[in-house]
Amino acid sequence: MGGSSTGDAAADAVAAAKEQQKAMYSMGDYSYLSQLFAPSAEALVDATGVTARTRVVDVAAGDGNCALAAARRGAVVTATDITRAQVELGRRRSEREGFAVTWLEADAEALPFPDRDFDVVLSAFGFIYAPRPEVVVGEALRVLRPGGAVGFTAWTPEGYVGRLNVLAHEYLSEGDPDAHDPDS
Ligand SMILES: C[S@@+](CC[C@H](N)C(=O)[O-])C[C@H]1O[C@@H](n2cnc3c(N)ncnc32)[C@H](O)[C@@H]1O
Repeated sequence: MGGSSTGDAAADAVAAAKEQQKAMYSMGDYSYLSQLFAPSAEALVDATGVTARTRVVDVAAGDGNCALAAARRGAVVTATDITRAQVELGRRRSEREGFAVTWLEADAEALPFPDRDFDVVLSAFGFIYAPRPEVVVGEALRVLRPGGAVGFTAWTPEGYVGRLNVLAHEYLSEGDPDAHDPDS
């Protein structure tokens, strides 16, 4: 009984984290921020050797920085994101830029693709927002063909966003005795 309620609480926390992501990425106009990340997407696509006809999936694609960088190189591209607003943004952007990217609403922890479906799996600042890294990595490897490449970017703890997160956590958790202490 104890085990099951612990399991339920963990499942609830995972679901809540995903809803929080969806709510956050449904606000405002993400396309302004995504311009700042575009150079990382270009670098990721080059680092993973994407060329014409490479089958690519961009996971947690936002409005499609990686997807479009791959499409410009002639790849066959699918893009996914858990947030419907991002999928719509990305679909419109792909049309505007004249690329036939397939867009789907999907959770990085449960990709709606068969095993070994892609040559390259990409995620720029995306995998890191799903709550269970081991599940995300498992999914990325499941949909990757043998010998394919997975490429992703993440914030570093000592970089601007890493330090901003620590600072925000200190203020957001003020007064909460159960909050995680980032210095511990
Ligand atoms: C910082 S943005 C990065 C977007 C894009 N890759 C880029 O480089 O601009 C993070 C994205 O992750 C998406 N996301 C968060 N959790 C997710 C999950 N579990 N599955 C799929 N996408 C997720 C958000 O909706 C958001 O679009």
